[in-house]
Formats: sequence, C-alpha cells, structure tokens
Amino acid sequence: MVAESNSKTVPATTRAQSCLELAQTGANQAMAPSSDAKKRQAALAALELVPRGSTIGVGTGSTVNLFIAALAADPGRVLRAVSSSQASSELLRQAGVAILDLNETADLELYIDGADEATPARHLIKGGGGALTREKIVAAAARRFVCIVDDAKVVDTLGRFPLPIEVIPMARTLVARELAARGGRAVWREGCVTDNGNHILDVHGLAIPDPVALECELDQLAGVVTVGLFAVRPADLLLIGTATGVERR
Ligand code: 5RP
Repeated sequence: MVAESNSKTVPATTRAQSCLELAQTGANQAMAPSSDAKKRQAALAALELVPRGSTIGVGTGSTVNLFIAALAADPGRVLRAVSSSQASSELLRQAGVAILDLNETADLELYIDGADEATPARHLIKGGGGALTREKIVAAAARRFVCIVDDAKVVDTLGRFPLPIEVIPMARTLVARELAARGGRAVWREGCVTDNGNHILDVHGLAIPDPVALECELDQLAGVVTVGLFAVRPADLLLIGTATGVERR
C-alpha cells in the first residue's frame, strides 16, 4: 500500500507554517477553527509562570506564536530560549530573545508548547505544524512541560486529530503499510519537509485507548523518526483557554 498524498501544491512561507498549511488541507480542515482569544488567554497564563530573566524551551504553532508575542511585549522576561523550529526561532529573535543550541545548555526548567489534542491525563497529539521531533527533544530536556491549548482541543480519547508521524523519506510507504496493518490510514503530507529533512504521515482512524503503549509500539517501526504522541512524557500542566477563563489540569 502506498501512503496517500493530501496535497499537490507547496505554499512557501516558513517550513513550519508550510507544514501546518499542508496538514490543514487534509481531514483536519473539518475541525472547528480554534479561538484565538482562548489561545491567547492560555498563552498569557503561561507567561505568568515564567520567571523574569529566564532561559526556557519554546515550541511551535499559532498558540505559541501568541506566547512569543506576549514575550515581545515584556522585554527581559525571557533572555534565552531553546526553540523547537526555525519558524519559532525567527519570531523569538524578533522578540529580542537569544536562541541557544540545546547541546550548549543544561536541562531547561520550563518548556511551553501547544498541542493538537490533549486529554485530561495530559497525553497529547502534536505535530500539526510538523515540528514534533524537535518538540519531543525539547520536552525531554525540560523539567516542566506546560502545554497551552484552547478548549476545542480537549478530548477524552486521542485520535480524532490525525496522528502525525515523522518518517525517513525512503521508509514512507513501508511505515504506511505497517500503519494500515494496525487500522490506520496514512496520508502523506506531500510538500512538507521537516526541519530535519524528513517526511510526515498523518494517520487517520487509529484507535488510541492506550497512548503510552501505542507510542512505544510505533517508535519501534523501522523508518519512524518520531511519533506525534506525547504520552510517555506527557505535559505536566495543561492551561486550557475557555469562554470563561483558563482551566488548569
Ligand atoms: C506543531 C505542534 C503544535 O503545537 C500544534 O500543531 C498546535 O498548533 P496550534 O497552536 O497552531 O493549534 O505540535 O508541531
């Protein structure tokens, strides 16, 4: 079986932006649009957790972009950051934050990032923006992972949002066949090349009753670089923007 493709065109902005747009040309399009106001509330609540003058990890996506905008309006709050994408690094530099290489830092106190889906147990699906590999690395290096979402992303069971998987390009169809054997329909996010030079499969229809077990199982497939399940290392705190304020879980 060959992984289906969900796009024939490649809009060129930044790579992460392009990967996000390509993801949204598929079934993700059917999801209700997220509320910017709710995302902003979550982003501002995260800012309150950041000590002045700190070095933190910063993720990728539209919710994180609102967090970075809040940093720009609060000079000196974050002096240095390890970023999960070239797109976020660019915005952080514009906000006056110096970008560090993870290899040159000790563990980070705090990592702020968004998610595509989150459960009350703080298990996540991430990778809608195509930055899942670096996101997982920075999350692993952080003592505390604070995830900022709007309430439309909170689900009881993960899997409505197609699961992004970063694969080595030559293994794309091999991995797609393995996923088909597990009941998943892998759609190649054609045109999206990750910051690591790899491809993304968006996997529809997977049942995910046990995210930790599935993450461990899919991690073993030859050619898989990163599975967009963040369950082995879940978020430590979810900040959920709602119509009535920010919920903490
Ligand atoms: C990028 C991600 C993002 O955190 C996720 O896609 C959520 O994005 P947004 O804040 O734009 O809804 O995992 O790889």
